[in-house]
Amino acid sequence: AHQWRGIIAEYADRLPEHVQRKVVTLGEGGTPLVPAPALSELTGAEVFLKVEGMNPTGSFKDRGMTTAISSAAGRGAKAVVCASTGNTSASAAAYATAAGMLCAVLVPDGKIAMGKLSQAIAHGARLLQVDGNFDDCLVAARKLAEVYPVELVNSVNSDRIEGQKTGSFEVVDALGDAPDIHALPVGNAGNITAYWRGYREYAGLDAGEEHGAVATRTPAMWGFQAAGAAPIVAGHPVDQPETIATAIRIGNPASWQQAEDARDTSRGLIEAVTDEQILAAHRILSSRVGVFVEPASAAGVAGILMLAEQGRVPAGARIVVTVTGHGLKDPQWALKTADGSEIVPVRVSADVVSIADALELS
Ligand code: F0G
Repeated sequence: AHQWRGIIAEYADRLPEHVQRKVVTLGEGGTPLVPAPALSELTGAEVFLKVEGMNPTGSFKDRGMTTAISSAAGRGAKAVVCASTGNTSASAAAYATAAGMLCAVLVPDGKIAMGKLSQAIAHGARLLQVDGNFDDCLVAARKLAEVYPVELVNSVNSDRIEGQKTGSFEVVDALGDAPDIHALPVGNAGNITAYWRGYREYAGLDAGEEHGAVATRTPAMWGFQAAGAAPIVAGHPVDQPETIATAIRIGNPASWQQAEDARDTSRGLIEAVTDEQILAAHRILSSRVGVFVEPASAAGVAGILMLAEQGRVPAGARIVVTVTGHGLKDPQWALKTADGSEIVPVRVSADVVSIADALELS
């Protein structure tokens, strides 16, 4: 049987040579593309989920981190730094450890999920909780990397985008061509930039020309921001971004321009979904599809459900939605009902009759 070797080995011919000199991999990529009949039924489309929570640290960030850390290792770097709402820090910490590098991470104080904080600390990162939001952390991380001997591994590092574009390759490899629509959450806007680059390349456009086309077309890119943190939708930076989807609590995305370019050249859209819509989509994913994600990851699904309600999803369209991070990163949301009350598991004594009674089996 074929053992998946990580995205650098699997897509070597489509990645820059400088990330291949000293490959640091944890076996990222090769994630499942799962049909979601419950979502197809709700939208009248044919919906698939690209389940990125199945990556080694539980999010899509690992695709870009294997390339960013390999590139840094190839140059002999000793230390890396990132700003993060949580997932980037977990991924950077793991790959830096695998590479034997020091990893500094700047996170917004009190605003990252416990699972992610635990990962960064477990992997030995020098974690600093900054008095400020993600945007403040990113400004500080950029300055630090300019002045001190540490390399920046945020998605402004083009090696990150190169790695993350392989998500599109895998979708096309699985479906045989690009879908009609690709939906995903938008935070710092690196991932929508990366997917769009990957789809264009696989269609023989831009950098892909020398390889010939694998796909006959490119999808419309549909990006979704959280309503309280939707600068691209608003058309201006948001000073105090707020959303329960802490992963995308970002007011001034670094790849803003590239996200607008992806939206416009793909004839797509970038819109906002409320926290209520995000949590409703999160609940549908867990209780009707069988896929457990963190809240930010449900934004893409919330988006297609909203557009379906508005009659804007073409009947029968093939839609791929990237669900970006694992539910175990931020599990508390599963234990609340739609009206916000706590869900408490039923207690029973250890005899079969009371268990059968509690299950209402008779
Ligand atoms: N979903 C999850 C789970 C994320 O962690 C992020 C970004 C996004 C979506 C948005 O992706 O930034 O490429 O538009 N998390 C970054 C971090 C900011 O620090 O972990 P994006």
